[in-house]
Amino acid sequence: MILLETTRLLFRTHEARDENDFVVMRTDPEVRRYVGGAPWPLEKARSRFRNEYLGKPTATYGLWATVLKEQNRYIGCCGLRRAETEEAAFLAYYIARPFWGRGLASEASRAFIRFAFESLRLPRLLADVERGNKASEHILEKFRFKLARQEELPGSGRIICYYELWKDDWKENGASRTEGVVGA
Ligand SMILES: CC(C)(COP(=O)(O)OP(=O)(O)OC[C@H]1O[C@@H](n2cnc3c(N)ncnc32)[C@H](O)[C@@H]1OP(=O)(O)O)[C@@H](O)C(=O)NCCC(=O)NCCS
Repeated sequence: MILLETTRLLFRTHEARDENDFVVMRTDPEVRRYVGGAPWPLEKARSRFRNEYLGKPTATYGLWATVLKEQNRYIGCCGLRRAETEEAAFLAYYIARPFWGRGLASEASRAFIRFAFESLRLPRLLADVERGNKASEHILEKFRFKLARQEELPGSGRIICYYELWKDDWKENGASRTEGVVGA
């Protein structure tokens, strides 16, 4: 199933052919640096793919296989995670290292923010980012997410920054333009 498309990306259910690219991404120490800190061992990456990603998501929430259309290639996973409250969701994005710095996470974020506010009619989006993840912080700030609170993970020295974006602030930003989204 395809959930959304943008100019360069499409977001679909994970398929068996995504496994190798998924495993390479999740065993990459640079990708894991601010999301847990350590790369997944190979076997963990394979079993997580088969048990938690393959055939998923099938509707709305979850991390969608993110495909670079011009290469028909799996380059990461992006989407919305359910929040404890029905009135919000977490924006999330993982892009494989060879594809960093091309504006792809921003393009995915723009599409999911629009989907959350316009299709799901959520009033608020959330995001959690480890302090120091400058690229991710920059993306959130670009879309006008505001830092709501910070919390240290006990005993780890790692600080998690919790961001939020209210629909009204997104509209004020003019970011609700349909630019980049070609289907939903
Ligand atoms: C974070 C991540 C998704 C960014 O993906 P990306 O496709 O390279 O991001 P984009 O190219 O859309 O945008 C990155 C922006 O951050 C900026 N940036 C990158 N590194 C930066 C740094 N060290 N300091 C400040 N800004 C930085 C870029 O210049 C770009 O800004 P621009 O849009 O104004 O040009 C990617 O690095 C990734 O998947 N990391 C591993 C997983 C992860 O950390 N996910 C996020 C969890 S919160």
